[in-house]
Amino acid sequence: MGSILITGGAGFIGSHTCVVLLNAGYNLIIIDNFSNSSPSVISSIAKLAKLEDKITEARLQLVKGDIRDKELVTQIFEIAKRKGTRIIAVIHFAGLKSVHESIQKPLLYWDVNTSGTRKLLEVMNEFSCKVLVFSSSATVYGDPCVIPIDETSPINPINPYGKTKAAVEMLLADISNCQQRTKPFQKSPTDWRIAILRYFNPVGAHPSGEIGEDPKGIPNNLFPLINQVAEGKRDLLHIFGNDWPTIDGTGVRDYIHVMDLAEGHKAALEKLLRSEPQLLTLNLGSGKGHSVLELIHCFEEVTGKKISYQIANRRAGDSAISIASPKLALKYLNWSTQKSLKDICDDGWNWQSKNIYKNKF
Ligand SMILES: NC(=O)c1ccc[n+]([C@@H]2O[C@H](COP(=O)([O-])OP(=O)(O)OC[C@H]3O[C@@H](n4cnc5c(N)ncnc54)[C@H](O)[C@@H]3O)[C@@H](O)[C@H]2O)c1
Repeated sequence: MGSILITGGAGFIGSHTCVVLLNAGYNLIIIDNFSNSSPSVISSIAKLAKLEDKITEARLQLVKGDIRDKELVTQIFEIAKRKGTRIIAVIHFAGLKSVHESIQKPLLYWDVNTSGTRKLLEVMNEFSCKVLVFSSSATVYGDPCVIPIDETSPINPINPYGKTKAAVEMLLADISNCQQRTKPFQKSPTDWRIAILRYFNPVGAHPSGEIGEDPKGIPNNLFPLINQVAEGKRDLLHIFGNDWPTIDGTGVRDYIHVMDLAEGHKAALEKLLRSEPQLLTLNLGSGKGHSVLELIHCFEEVTGKKISYQIANRRAGDSAISIASPKLALKYLNWSTQKSLKDICDDGWNWQSKNIYKNKF
């Protein structure tokens, strides 16, 4: 049986997707340099997928390394081929994801996110492995003109992070020889099968509390910050602007539970494995918007924790509302989100509180 290479599989979205794929019977190889994750997540993935020790090696392999190391990536493909477990597809999560950091370190972001992806694609091409699911982002839309945002909305990234994602999207369109941006589904005249998934705001954690978002350093996103205030690690939360044209003046986002997102990856992978060469570009979001204050109130209700906050000025580059149109993901993948904002808060806090316990004892 072939295997699936998961780059960045130890990270937030990658680890949850690995659990879903292992439970569906796939054999996985993870490559991760642990720049934003910890090797300890691998045993949690194996535990959640109920892998017995003796078969773990066959079902789940870990390679510590960088996707920019072409020799290493080539070796991974070669060894898998020699063992009779040829890599048949890649899910490419590995990358840097902080908008703020990308403004400080654009060269690093272009190197990891675009050069890293190009090297990976070169190796895939050499081994005739031409099935790819790529982690893109709603950031490629920049400040959207129309809500909900559908896949034909203009691509207009406004920071280096978003620009690296848009650049990879263009590269993928070139290797499929398709004119991306005009149509979300295009038959490919080459033999590549590619799904570009544009995530909205991934949050929450596995319901077991065994894995979740564990960023190194200061989190970039709202949800881990709320968790850290609840945990007592931070005194309060800054809300950037309460004068946006929204229900309560705070920014509105489309929050998607990471388990729903993981299921979306499985659906995309299976769609590509059974269909003709194509380039699919799909939003993964819930289609529902919640304001920052709504998220905070829901979190307080679910957890019984008070979240102190302070209103700060709007940040440059933020937008009032970002909500996905998830219609095409339903049409092409038969996928839609199943979990609510309450599930997000419940599971996110369950993970965070178990983590505090682990750190203390
Ligand atoms: N989480 C979000 O809000 C969000 C939203 C949209 C898109 N994305 C994209 O989804 C992907 C996964 O995001 P995530 O939230 O799981 O992030 P994450 O940081 O938790 O996971 C990324 C993983 O990739 C690894 N990695 C980074 N650079 C690497 C390299 N050069 N070689 C090998 N491994 C490397 C990190 O150690 C980490 O384990 C990223 O490409 C990100 O840009 C994330």
